[in-house]
Amino acid sequence: MKILAISGSLRRDSHNRGLLVNAAELLPADVELELFEDLRAVPPYDQDDDVEPAPAAVARLRAAIAGSDALLISTPEYNSSIPGQLKNALDWASRPIESNVLRNKPVAVIGASTGAFGAVWAQAELRKVLAATGARVIDAELAVGHAPQRFDEHGRLADAELREQLGEVLNALLDAVAPKEAESEYTLAPA
Ligand SMILES: Cc1cc2nc3c(=O)[nH]c(=O)nc-3n(C[C@H](O)[C@H](O)[C@H](O)COP(=O)(O)O)c2cc1C
Repeated sequence: MKILAISGSLRRDSHNRGLLVNAAELLPADVELELFEDLRAVPPYDQDDDVEPAPAAVARLRAAIAGSDALLISTPEYNSSIPGQLKNALDWASRPIESNVLRNKPVAVIGASTGAFGAVWAQAELRKVLAATGARVIDAELAVGHAPQRFDEHGRLADAELREQLGEVLNALLDAVAPKEAESEYTLAPA
């Protein structure tokens, strides 16, 4: 099983990227988590450019989504919404409608912010956008507020409760991909 992980933040020391690294460490050995490293390269959406062949970075984004069994997206909150570059990438991924790579794709949304609420508004917006594309948005969430205080010096989520919640999100995502096998085949590392 392969999960494609996308951080909505392009920042080098991003807390949202950090959450995805923590997720990779919780997953069982037979579940691969690939961090999508190419978000910055996706050009601004222009319907005139939305033809075949697609711009190279768009083709890479669509192929990465199509080649995964599920998506895990971690978003910061920018002015109470999702970062423009993340929305832009999802707009590209949502086309063409008839072969939209997001359709029926299980997607879990998590988020971190420096504020108290852990990007909950951005997460709500992201779930709305994903639902509009036809993705299967998982009903599980993780909101990491005060993000700079939530990771130890090794980048590990310092709070056991947050690690547990992240595990629950991942379990729900794995279960959405393989409902019958989820418990027996895909067992998470202890939080
Ligand atoms: C343009 C901009 C707008 C922001 N707006 C919000 C906001 O509305 N709510 C919030 O909690 N944090 C806001 N922040 C702070 C982000 O939560 C913080 O920069 C966070 O660390 C970004 O995630 P990252 O660590 O993954 O880069 C904003 C930051 C930027 C740069």
